[in-house]
Amino acid sequence: MIRGSELAATGGSSTRGPASLNDRETWRRLEPPSQRALLGRLYEGIRAASVELCQPLVAEDFCLQAVKETSPPKWHLAHTTWFFETFLLQPFLPDYKDFHPAFQHLFNSYYNAVGEQFARPMRGLLTRPTIDEVMAYRASVDQSINQLIDTCDQENLPAVSKLLELGCNHEEQHQELLLTDLKYSFSLNPIKPVYQSAPSDVANDDAGSTVRSSQWWEYQGGLCEVGHTGSGFSFDNEHPRHKVYLEPYRLSPWLVTNGEFLAFIEAGGYDRPEFWLSDGFAEATAQGWKHPLYWRLVNGRWYEFTLSGERPVNMNEPVTHVSFYEADAYARFCGKRLPTEAEWELAAETVPVEGNLRESGRLHPAPADGVNPLFGDTWEWTASSYSPYPGYEPEAGAVGEYNGKFMINQMVLRGGSCVTPAGHIRASYRNFFYPPDRWQFTGIRLAEGIRQ
Ligand SMILES: [Fe+2]
Repeated sequence: MIRGSELAATGGSSTRGPASLNDRETWRRLEPPSQRALLGRLYEGIRAASVELCQPLVAEDFCLQAVKETSPPKWHLAHTTWFFETFLLQPFLPDYKDFHPAFQHLFNSYYNAVGEQFARPMRGLLTRPTIDEVMAYRASVDQSINQLIDTCDQENLPAVSKLLELGCNHEEQHQELLLTDLKYSFSLNPIKPVYQSAPSDVANDDAGSTVRSSQWWEYQGGLCEVGHTGSGFSFDNEHPRHKVYLEPYRLSPWLVTNGEFLAFIEAGGYDRPEFWLSDGFAEATAQGWKHPLYWRLVNGRWYEFTLSGERPVNMNEPVTHVSFYEADAYARFCGKRLPTEAEWELAAETVPVEGNLRESGRLHPAPADGVNPLFGDTWEWTASSYSPYPGYEPEAGAVGEYNGKFMINQMVLRGGSCVTPAGHIRASYRNFFYPPDRWQFTGIRLAEGIRQ
């Protein structure tokens, strides 16, 4: 039996590097050997982290795909490799020969400009290539990428570095998906598999929620700017920086807790259409939603599935795995609303990127004493639909399909979650999911306007 720990031995060091060069201007001023060395370290760290995340897995886990929205771990490992092969090795490494002719088709996710894609709902059927073959694919591409970093013409280095940084950030997104997809698949198994044991400080506290007394954070708004600034990495959807006008508003300092959300459940919130958007009520009714995904009522006690197995719901932890529709309905139940993405970003611009992110090792939202930082724990649903910023232009070429073509029918989420790497998230980062989606670590922060 192949275990992930054996894979780690072939996958490189356990270094976890940042996903970006942090400051591209500083990188540009380095001597070429230092520029290349930095790119090599960045790449090595990201690639090693993906393999490290697979250490707890057994061979059978690598093919798990419960629903079409999720992908098997093996596919994530191969697709991220395909990205580097397609967008870096093929165009930039002279005489590069594809590792396998079928992989262009099998591991292309949605890039129509690159060619046809293997049907997404069928990814779990790919028992071949085996995980050993996928790891050989990774090792081969790693070797070629290192060769490219060492030997590419200096004039190509800016373009190579930009795509390499994109590939590393892309791989970090898939690291997060690997965990959330695996959680979903594991949750359907009556054995309730454990990905990792629970941290020692996790209390199975199902007592009443702590009373929150923190003052809400207040912002004057006015004419503000949002969008990425500076010379660190960003996705194209964070551009261009532009002006917005905000009325004065408040944000809750804490994420809605399980205990607070339970009050909504016990008040019959799921059956009261006055709180719901029409589409949301129809979806909740059709799907039979009566509680967050992964909750289960056993003999009068609520349990939830976590990456550390099933345990009683801790009423002081932030509620998670709720859809946009549930988040919006809960806000109405409270007489509040969700923040817009501009309100959220204005608040986040001046605070450090700190919180319960993947590096904490918890892989679950943490209870907070009245304050949850804007970063970590759960992605926060906003009231903003995912649309292009004024003047937005997708990247040139096939990578232009990365973000722009999804700017329809989805909602923006901000802040990262307990499975987001700290080096991956920032104030201007825009995540997006469909309103009914629940399998990501999604939660609720309330907002309200301030009447002058
Ligand atoms: Fe992808």
